[in-house]
Amino acid sequence: MAYNLLKGKRGIIFGALDEKSIAWKVAERAHEEGAVFTLTNTPTAMRFGELNELAEKCNATIIPADATSVEDLENLVTKSMEVLGGKVDFILHSIGMSLNVRKKRVYSDLRYDYFQKTLDISAISFHKLLQVCYKHDAISEWGSVVALSYIAAQRVLYGYNDMADAKALLESIGRSFGYIYGREKKIRVNTISQSPTMTTAGSGVKGIHGLMDFTERMSPLGNATADECANFTIVLFSDLSKKVTMQNIFHDGGFSSMGMSLRAMKMYNKSLDCEDCEEID
Ligand SMILES: NC(=O)c1ccc[n+]([C@@H]2O[C@H](COP(=O)([O-])OP(=O)(O)OC[C@H]3O[C@@H](n4cnc5c(N)ncnc54)[C@H](O)[C@@H]3O)[C@@H](O)[C@H]2O)c1
Repeated sequence: MAYNLLKGKRGIIFGALDEKSIAWKVAERAHEEGAVFTLTNTPTAMRFGELNELAEKCNATIIPADATSVEDLENLVTKSMEVLGGKVDFILHSIGMSLNVRKKRVYSDLRYDYFQKTLDISAISFHKLLQVCYKHDAISEWGSVVALSYIAAQRVLYGYNDMADAKALLESIGRSFGYIYGREKKIRVNTISQSPTMTTAGSGVKGIHGLMDFTERMSPLGNATADECANFTIVLFSDLSKKVTMQNIFHDGGFSSMGMSLRAMKMYNKSLDCEDCEEID
């Protein structure tokens, strides 16, 4: 259902690769809610992805950019303002990549050139984006910027590797820039910490199937889907969340507040050889 929450608003959406992408769902919802926006991804991702299809559906212009390149970001931001006819009201940073994860290097055997790339692509790109927007005065008053994070930024989850460090940095950049942008321009900067989700990036996480089963059993409301993440992102872009800034907001069905759940304990006990294990209900 659409509520016209973003009627008349302009935006930039990073990171839609295919229809499983969280950014893809956000673009579809933003379009339904009346927003106009540009779509962006790397030239390589656009060759492999299906971004044209999304752009057609949402009546959006595609402007390629590698989010680690300040030059590309400058071009993206200035062209977006030209195409959309003014400053933007919302931006989604939905970008993550680790070569250490891709090449199956474990956390105690990282390649540091890969590690630097992980940080640059998955976190420092957020700073570069905010700084470029700041210098070009590209975001309207009461605008809203959202980046997607994961709970491994704050707690250890086996296998998330150097992406955990990148997400910790991403969340910190959100707070630090959120202060400056809030103080000077009344612009919100937040991160959403999303449940594990079966996307291209998600399926690269070690043991994703078991992890998703575990978080599903641990979360009283169950895992949050990509569609639900899109809905929540729209709320943060809308005027209904005007005083929410510098937050990392868990969108995870309650997982982040749990220690052990009945459903998870039942499953765990199945693998235990103890007498009182059967008594749990
Ligand atoms: N899937 C999950 O389990 C999960 C959970 C929590 C948070 N997140 C985060 O959500 C965001 C979106 O991921 P997704 O799950 O939709 O997967 P996805 O693979 O669909 O999206 C990741 C995107 O990052 C883009 N990207 C990579 N390098 C880039 C660069 N240099 N410049 C610009 N774009 C670049 C990719 O092309 C891709 O579109 C990421 O930040 C991810 O870490 C995902």
